[in-house]
Amino acid sequence: MSADFTKSVVILIVVIFGVASLSLLTWVVPNILYDGDLKAKSLAKPLTPIELAGRDIYISEGCHVCHTQMVRPLDPEVRRNGRPNEEADDIYEFPNLWGSKRTGPDLTNIGRKYSDQWHAIHLINPRQVVPTSIMPAYPWLFEQVLTGDRITAKMLTLRTLGVPYSDQDIDNARLQVRGKTKGEALIRYLQSLGVDTSQPDSATLTHVPRSEGAD
Ligand code: HEC
Repeated sequence: MSADFTKSVVILIVVIFGVASLSLLTWVVPNILYDGDLKAKSLAKPLTPIELAGRDIYISEGCHVCHTQMVRPLDPEVRRNGRPNEEADDIYEFPNLWGSKRTGPDLTNIGRKYSDQWHAIHLINPRQVVPTSIMPAYPWLFEQVLTGDRITAKMLTLRTLGVPYSDQDIDNARLQVRGKTKGEALIRYLQSLGVDTSQPDSATLTHVPRSEGAD
């Protein structure tokens, strides 16, 4: 019997299925199994309605095209952009906004860096605070007002994906967004970035008592 396996379509198909199932086992199955653990160790908090509305503006204006939200655990990156991302940070991100191009700086930990007023001036005209900036100006963000009409549906959808919004959060959402400008919502979102996840996790920190005479 000839043993030239390279010419057998059946063997090719069997091997493809074998490799595909192995990938499924090593990549997909662990994610499903470890979902609970990730939630338990995550410091991330769900976005408030106004932050969520701001995130939508971040996406619709294409901010993620020039800005990443992904600090890799490499020394120069951490020194420039702060705490590196962890898998558990993104449990409420649908879709994630890691981005892939850095025309501007990474914004993962931008939350406490500037005042609201700085952000407003920068968004209306970046050149006013950073004279050499090539970032586009977004003056209309402070003229266009949000109705909040879609926020309830959006939060209900996110809840089906596992974001723990309560009925009360969802009922009050529209009023929190209605009447705010797009710029205000976007600034609330920017100011939330990295704030939860940079907190020391008291649940997982082990308390080491200071011994007498220790430095
Ligand atoms: C064409 C690329 C581009 C786009 C699109 C863009 N930016 Fe920028 N952004 C930059 C560049 C370049 C800088 C650095 C110069 C500066 O600070 O203006 C910057 C800086 C920033 C900073 C300050 C970062 C820091 O650490 O100092 C923030 C905040 C920011 N951008 C937010 C936004 C938001 C929000 C949007 C969407 C509304 C946006 N950017 C869209 C290019 C861009």
